[in-house]
Amino acid sequence: MSMFKQRRAQFFTRMKNNSIAVIPAGREKIRNNDCEFPFRQDSDFHYLSGFNEPGACLVLIKNNDRCKTVLFNRKKDKSAEIWHGYRLGQSAAVSELGFDSAFDIAEFEHHIYELMDGFSTLIYPTFQNAALDKSLSVVINKLRAGARQGAVAPTVIIDSSRIVHEMRLIKSENEIELLSQAAEISAAGHIRAMKACRSGMWEYQLQAEVEHEFALQGAPETAYNSIVAGGENACILHYTENNRKLQNGELVLIDAGAEYQGYAGDITRTFPVNGVFSEHQTKLYQLVLDVQRSAISQVKPGAALIDINKNAVQQLVDGLLELGLMQGDSETLIKDEVYKAFYMHGIGHYIGLDVHDVGDYGTLENPCLLEAGMVVTIEPGLYVGSDADVDPQWMKIGIRIEDDVLVTEHGAEVLSADVPKSITEIEALMADAKQHG
Ligand code: GLY
Ligand code: MN
Ligand code: MN
Repeated sequence: MSMFKQRRAQFFTRMKNNSIAVIPAGREKIRNNDCEFPFRQDSDFHYLSGFNEPGACLVLIKNNDRCKTVLFNRKKDKSAEIWHGYRLGQSAAVSELGFDSAFDIAEFEHHIYELMDGFSTLIYPTFQNAALDKSLSVVINKLRAGARQGAVAPTVIIDSSRIVHEMRLIKSENEIELLSQAAEISAAGHIRAMKACRSGMWEYQLQAEVEHEFALQGAPETAYNSIVAGGENACILHYTENNRKLQNGELVLIDAGAEYQGYAGDITRTFPVNGVFSEHQTKLYQLVLDVQRSAISQVKPGAALIDINKNAVQQLVDGLLELGLMQGDSETLIKDEVYKAFYMHGIGHYIGLDVHDVGDYGTLENPCLLEAGMVVTIEPGLYVGSDADVDPQWMKIGIRIEDDVLVTEHGAEVLSADVPKSITEIEALMADAKQHG
């Protein structure tokens, strides 16, 4: 409770005086008739409230430097709880989660009208939640209509996202611990998959191995839909069908991460289905691995992801020229973005409560610089489809190697280092698993 209270206190220091903030919870989504997708709390709401139910809204009020927190949540309901599960209710929201008061969410519009009256500034995630936009517009217009009776509607509206996202970008000690655990559990899932992989398995069966290990280790949810892509499927960046048989002689790319207490792991490894890299696979894999290691070595305070990516592009292009997959001079190939036929995504992203975490990246001319306490992924790749203009021996090879990296005072710490990535280590692990079952 104290961690979430501290965050609310920090949020208050960033609120103007005489303002009211409204932060909505996530909503349940229908999957198909009578069934919902598993509920996942909205990350901003979770960050500030620590409350994991849908049908809720957090209100923060700063009035003459006096701060008040109000939670709207579902009221206790015996029948609804028998059918759908436990609800915390209002009195426990105050005693267990530390809000100053709590009201039934069914009475939101009535109470928010009274709470908002007189405040000049409204802070909320603008244009991100149609239901909240609609409900606030009803309340604001009612306040405007009551002007002659002394009601005062807010005249300044500020997007809350910018404030929360700036806070979320730099991770606390506690968050770093949770991200390390998410990375360690994710690593264990990848190791299990390397050991279990056999030709003839379905991609979804290998996915089950990864996710089984996540759950065994205390992470029942994935941070995103797992990608298990054999052969040419690895060239589809967000391939999630995972429904093809893995073939002897091809590589399999697994991009999968556990979600641990809300925090994401995000690891990619690429390895041979039969446990041994072929000559062409070795050459391309070693190139990506060298680039990934070099990129990680550049992560430190003051560096910019965009510059790390530029260096990665240069190294990938040099490598592809040397291997004969591209021809010409590297400067032109880079300027004309010819390399994008083989490497079309970025070098990495922030990671936290969301796998593609929030936070400002700045602009191309003025990028945001890395700071201690940020956590990023480093994930270069090369993708050679069967339509590439290269010797057929290089075709149907997609490789990405991705780690989760904490920016420290003096450099970087790889949180996902447990899972092997050198060719020798991967082959040894797979050979050992085959021998000893
Ligand atoms: N798993 C999504 C990504 O690597 O960005
Ligand atoms: Mn990633
Ligand atoms: Mn990934």
